[in-house]
Amino acid sequence: MSEKNIVISGVGIWTPTESVTNEELVEAYNGYVVKYNAENAAEIEAGTVEAKPLSSAEFITKASGIKSRYVYRKDGILDINRMRPKWEERSDDEISHQAEVALIAARKALAAANKKPEDVDAVIVSCAYTQRSYPAVAIEVQEQLGIKGFGFDMLVACSAATFALQRAYEMVKAGTARCVIAINPELTSPQNNWRDRDSHFIFGDVATATVVESDDTISPEAQHSYDVLSTKAQTVFSNNIRSNFGYTSYADDTDPYGLDKFFIQNGRKVFKEVCPMAAEHISSQLESLHIEVADVKRWWLHQANINMNTLIGKRLLGREATAEEAPIVLDRYANTASAGSLIAFNLYHEDLQAGDTGVICSFGAGYSIGSLVVRKR
Ligand code: COA
Repeated sequence: MSEKNIVISGVGIWTPTESVTNEELVEAYNGYVVKYNAENAAEIEAGTVEAKPLSSAEFITKASGIKSRYVYRKDGILDINRMRPKWEERSDDEISHQAEVALIAARKALAAANKKPEDVDAVIVSCAYTQRSYPAVAIEVQEQLGIKGFGFDMLVACSAATFALQRAYEMVKAGTARCVIAINPELTSPQNNWRDRDSHFIFGDVATATVVESDDTISPEAQHSYDVLSTKAQTVFSNNIRSNFGYTSYADDTDPYGLDKFFIQNGRKVFKEVCPMAAEHISSQLESLHIEVADVKRWWLHQANINMNTLIGKRLLGREATAEEAPIVLDRYANTASAGSLIAFNLYHEDLQAGDTGVICSFGAGYSIGSLVVRKR
C-alpha cells in the first residue's frame, strides 16, 4: 500500500426547515394522553389497561439537554389523532425522500471539496434506517449526481456515519476508489414512537455528507481539509437499544407497527455502559498515536444526551470540556442517530488552525463506537 495521506476534504449538511420544540411536543403528547385515558377510563379503572403518564418539557431538557428537533415534515406529528409524520407517497419515477435530502448535503460537500462527479468513484449512504431494501438509496444518489463507479447502503445505527468514513478511508487507502462520498440521510422521525413518554423527545432529522480522498488528488480550492491520522471501530452486542422493525413481520404474523418495532431502549443501562466504553475507546486510540488528550483541540462527539457528553468529557480530560472544545448541537437537533458528531463537525471546524487535532466519535446502538482522529492541514 502507498503511503499517501487520506483526507476529509469537504463536508455538507442539510437541516430541515421545520422544527418541533419541547413545549409543542409535550402539549401534543399530553393532549393525546388525556384523550387516551378518557377513552379507556373504564378499562383503566378495571385495571386491564394502564393509564398513560403525562410528559414534561422540563424533564426532557434536564434528562437529555434536548430543547428542539428538526423534522423533515412537521405535518401529522402534533396531530393528537395521528402522532406521526405525514409524508406524501412518491412513485418509483420520482426521487425518494431519503435520496432527496442526501443530495442536498452531498452537493454541499462536493462543492466544499471542489470535486466534480467524474472525480468520485463511490457513494456510501450510511444511516440508521433506509427507506427501502433495494435498489440502494446510494445508487439512486449516485445516478442523480452523475457519478460513475459504485454505491451501496450500510446500516450501523448510531455509528453508521463514522463506520462509513472508515470504509471510505480504507477504500481510498487501498486504491479501490480515488474519492468517496459518504452520506448520512438520517430521517428518524417515522421510526420514533411519538406516543411514548420515554422516547417521544429523542430524535430529529438531518443529513450530512463527507468527501474522503487522498492528498494526491485534493483540490487547492478545498479550504478546510483534514488528514485522517487513525480510525477505530468497536462493536459489542447489546439489546439495550433495539428496533425490531423489519421485513419478516409479513411472515411471522407480528404487527409491523407493534411497540417493539419502534426505537426502544433501556436508557439508564445505555448511559452506564456506553460512557466508559467510549471514553476508553478514545483514550486508547489517542495513546496509540502518542497524542495527549490535552493536545486535542476539538471533540466532535456523538449527540444523544448532554449528560453522556459531559461525563465522557470529564473522563477524558479530568474536568468538564468547554463548549468550544466539545460543541453541543443536540439542544437544537436532538439525537439524529449517526449524524450528530458530523453535524458538530460541519458547524464547528472552520476556526481550527493548521496542525490542530480533533476527534470525531459516535457511540450507541449495537453497541457500536466509531472514531477518527483528524488533523487540520
Ligand atoms: N416526562 C416526564 N417524566 C418522564 C419522562 C417524560 N418525558 N420520561 C420518563 N420520565 C420519568 C420516568 O418514568 C421515571 O419516573 P420514575 O422515577 O417515577 O420511574 C423518571 O422520569 C426517570 O426516568 P429515566 O428513564 O430513568 O430517566 P433518565 O434520567 O435515565 O433519562 C434518558 C432518560 C432516555 C434521557 C436517558 O436515560 C438517556 O438519554 N440515556 C442515554 C441513552 C441514549 O441517549 N440513547 C440513544 C442512543 S445513543
